[in-house]
Amino acid sequence: MLTTDSECNIRCVAPGDADALRDIYNHYVATSTATCDLFPRTADDQALWIEKHSENPYPGWVLVAGGVVVGYASLSPFNPKPAYRHTAENSLYVHPEHTGNGYGERLLMHTLSEAPKYGITNVVALITEGNDVSIRLHERYGFVPCGRIENVARKLGKTLALILMQKQLS
Ligand SMILES: CC(C)(COP(=O)(O)OP(=O)(O)OC[C@H]1O[C@@H](n2cnc3c(N)ncnc32)[C@H](O)[C@@H]1OP(=O)(O)O)[C@@H](O)C(=O)NCCC(=O)NCCS
Repeated sequence: MLTTDSECNIRCVAPGDADALRDIYNHYVATSTATCDLFPRTADDQALWIEKHSENPYPGWVLVAGGVVVGYASLSPFNPKPAYRHTAENSLYVHPEHTGNGYGERLLMHTLSEAPKYGITNVVALITEGNDVSIRLHERYGFVPCGRIENVARKLGKTLALILMQKQLS
């Protein structure tokens, strides 16, 4: 599925997007607690990620603006046990030089509109404490807080809670 307007389009992720995605993700690995990964994603890791998110029912998408991949979003299994099949964790990342342009919103809207087509009716966001931009963004699109796990991660000298938010799709 493609979302297009005059400025940007969202399409399914492809192997050729690997370098762009790795640049975006590894920036946040190194500089923030938005992801609790501690080590940069390797080229092999990224290739595997793209392979996994090229399959039903947990897709990945990239947002292309001006011919450049400026962000991406994905659905992943919330839990590998089969009874959780209809529930997915969502994720989105926007290139640090392109934040604040509405790309995050577009990626989240796209994720929520596409999810039911993949049999996903429940989307869960796992957001590290302090990521207020992400919390506000998810709230704006109907996610509600549904839990908080205290002191669950340590990164960049901080001990952090994990905030769980959920949106049920009809
Ligand atoms: C969260 C993220 C995806 C938002 O992407 P974005 O393209 O900047 O989002 P948008 O431009 O659609 O803006 C969404 C809201 O966040 C605000 N915002 C964006 N960047 C911001 C910043 N650096 N500081 C404060 N607010 C910011 C926008 O103003 C907007 O709020 P508003 O509509 O009330 O003005 C992006 O900041 C990012 O990739 N962060 C690191 C990864 C991450 O946290 N992913 C989510 C993990 S759960």
